[in-house]
Amino acid sequence: MNKSVIPAKSALITGGAGFIGSHLVDSLLRDGYEVTVIDNFDPYYPAEIKQQNIAPHLQHPHYRLLDVDIRDAAAINPIEGCFDVIVHLAAKAGVRNSLSDPLGYQMSNVIGLQNLLSFAHARKIKQFVFGSSSSVYGDCPRLPWSESDLDLLPLNPYASTKLAGEQLGYVYSRTFGLRFIGLRFFTVFGERQRPDLAIHKFAQLMLAGRSIPVYGDGSSERDFTYWGDIVAGIRAAMDYTASDYEVFNLGNHRTIGLLETIHKLEAVLGVKAQIDWQDWQPGEMRRTWANIDKAQRLLGFIPATDFDRGLERFAVWLKERLCAEAAA
Ligand SMILES: NC(=O)c1ccc[n+]([C@@H]2O[C@H](COP(=O)([O-])OP(=O)(O)OC[C@H]3O[C@@H](n4cnc5c(N)ncnc54)[C@H](O)[C@@H]3O)[C@@H](O)[C@H]2O)c1
Repeated sequence: MNKSVIPAKSALITGGAGFIGSHLVDSLLRDGYEVTVIDNFDPYYPAEIKQQNIAPHLQHPHYRLLDVDIRDAAAINPIEGCFDVIVHLAAKAGVRNSLSDPLGYQMSNVIGLQNLLSFAHARKIKQFVFGSSSSVYGDCPRLPWSESDLDLLPLNPYASTKLAGEQLGYVYSRTFGLRFIGLRFFTVFGERQRPDLAIHKFAQLMLAGRSIPVYGDGSSERDFTYWGDIVAGIRAAMDYTASDYEVFNLGNHRTIGLLETIHKLEAVLGVKAQIDWQDWQPGEMRRTWANIDKAQRLLGFIPATDFDRGLERFAVWLKERLCAEAAA
C-alpha cells in the first residue's frame, strides 16, 4: 500500500435511516467516510419513508446498513469493523408519544444508549457523539437556555431519557476514558423532517384541505434549526478533541411563535390553514430558545439557514414528494 494514502475515517451512525441521520450519512459519504448504519426501522412512522431516505446510500461502496435493534446487546456486540467515531441518533423520538409509552422510551433511549456505550468501551472507540435534545431544559426558568444552566427540569419521559443519556455519557467519559459530546438539538426542520413534527404534520393536513390541531392559545414558541446546520454541528462534534466531555446547544438562537409559523406555512404552501383549537397538552414546553455562544466558540457553529429559507426548501421538497407519490 502507498504509505502516503490516508485511510478513510470510519463512522458508526445509529438511526442513520431517519431524518437527521440520513442527512448526516449523505454528508459523510460525500466526504469519503466509511459509514456503517444501525437502524431497525422503528414503526413510530412508516418504514417506507426511511427507505426513501437511504435509497441513494444503498449502492455506495463505502456504505453498510445493519438492521439491528439497539436494545439488543447480543446483536450489537458482534458487529465487525473498526470505528473512529460513533454518532448515536437512534431513539424513540416524539414528546407526546412518550407519555403513553414511558417504558418503551427508557428501553430504546437509555438501555439502547447503554448498549452502544458498552460497545464503544469494549472496542476502544475514542469518540462518541450523542443526539440529545433541548427538551432536557423543560421548566428551566432562564431564557435563552445555556449549557451552564444546572436546573434541568424535564417535563416528559422523552426528555428525561435524554438527560439520563447525557449523565450516562459523563460516566463513560470520566470513568472509562471515552470522549462524549452531547448535542442538544433544538426543533430540527427542513426536507425529510419527521412526519409527526408540527411543520410537517401541519403542511400535510393543510395540503389535504384538513384542519390542523393547535394546542393551547397558539402562543408557544420554538427555536427552529435547519437540518443542514445540525449536520454541520454534528460534523464539528465528531472532530472535537479539546476536552473529554461536553454538551452543546445546537439551535438557531431565534424563536418563532406557533401562529407566525402557521402564517409562514400558509405563504409557502399557498393554502389557508383551518385551526382546530385544542387544550394545552401535558408535558409540552411553552418556549424553547438556545444560547449558542458555547457551540460557536468551541465548535465554530454558526447557523447558516434562517427559518424562512429552510421553510421554502421544505415546501418545495414536500410538494415534489407528494407529486411523485400521486404519480406512482
Ligand atoms: N428532529 C428533532 O427536532 C430532534 C430534536 C431533538 C433531538 N432529536 C434527536 O435526534 C435523533 C434523531 O432524530 P430524528 O428526528 O432524525 O428522528 P428519526 O425518528 O427520524 O430517526 C431516528 C432513527 O432511529 C431509529 N431507531 C429507533 N429506535 C431504534 C432501535 N431500537 N434500534 C435501532 N434503530 C432505532 C428509527 O428507525 C429512526 O430511523 C433522536 O435521538 C432524537 O431524539 C431530534
